[in-house]
Amino acid sequence: MTTIDHRPLADLPAIVTGGANGLGAATACLFAALGAKVIVADIDDARGEALAAQIGGHYRRCDVTSEADFEALVGTCVDRHGWLGCMINNAGQLGALGGIADITLDAWNRTVTVLLTSVFLGTKHAARVMGRNGERGGSILNTASVGGIAALAPHAYTAAKHGVVGLTRSAASELAADGIRVNAVAPGSVPSRLTELAYGGMEAMEAAQRARNPLGTIVSADEIAGCFAWLAGPDGRNVTGQVIAVDSGLTELRLNADYYRKDATFFGRDGIE
Ligand SMILES: NC(=O)c1ccc[n+]([C@@H]2O[C@H](COP(=O)([O-])OP(=O)(O)OC[C@H]3O[C@@H](n4cnc5c(N)ncnc54)[C@H](O)[C@@H]3O)[C@@H](O)[C@H]2O)c1
Repeated sequence: MTTIDHRPLADLPAIVTGGANGLGAATACLFAALGAKVIVADIDDARGEALAAQIGGHYRRCDVTSEADFEALVGTCVDRHGWLGCMINNAGQLGALGGIADITLDAWNRTVTVLLTSVFLGTKHAARVMGRNGERGGSILNTASVGGIAALAPHAYTAAKHGVVGLTRSAASELAADGIRVNAVAPGSVPSRLTELAYGGMEAMEAAQRARNPLGTIVSADEIAGCFAWLAGPDGRNVTGQVIAVDSGLTELRLNADYYRKDATFFGRDGIE
């Protein structure tokens, strides 16, 4: 008989960077509800502390551009819980905007540091304490983006998220021997502060998504959290090196979905030639 485990992440020590808001906050909430011991890591102390208190977790300030902060963050987890089972490298921002000729080197470097170097640092310091001596292993989860799969975002963001996808795969290939799995989720546009900024308001964002996504739906932060929870839990134990797009079909189906639209005028639509 099939039994359902309602706490598949029971006692799993998990860190969520950028955990105070948006996708990270949804992930922190779901992981806690599924039994994980969550450490919310962010630079937004007020919201991070409030959320940690609400879910029975712990808040630790961590600027993801700082290696010292990551060392201290992982140390806090090991001190409190004995190990680190899951690192979710999620913190991010939209970063440098505008045409290629207008982006300053400072803005470019800042964007790549927040979005990509942070994932390198989080992976490095998580791997340092996970799976040492081949004991427990662990799961590293990265928030990529549809902008990490195709040219769907500003230049620096797109380049950095493509880097996150590449690092997910290369880190997975090395760390498999230590029992550490590395995966990424690539969300389509999800209502959050980041997309409100990107689209100039939530209504505009939602209208754009409904018009361009093959499923005509809008992805929610809870769905991204659900995908992370599945990857971190027992049902994800044989999944590594993967980038899972949760994007209403945008990256994979967009072009062919256009062909099948009711109002499409492509030749051959009504016949076999
Ligand atoms: N919302 C979307 O549609 C979407 C789509 C694809 C990918 N993403 C990615 O999801 C992640 C979360 O974004 P979101 O939409 O929830 O945005 P958000 O602005 O709601 O949350 C981002 C969080 O990251 C934190 N943060 C920013 N810079 C930081 C730093 N230097 N150190 C520590 N924390 C920092 C912020 O304080 C905030 O809590 C980002 O990596 C983003 O690129 C979002």
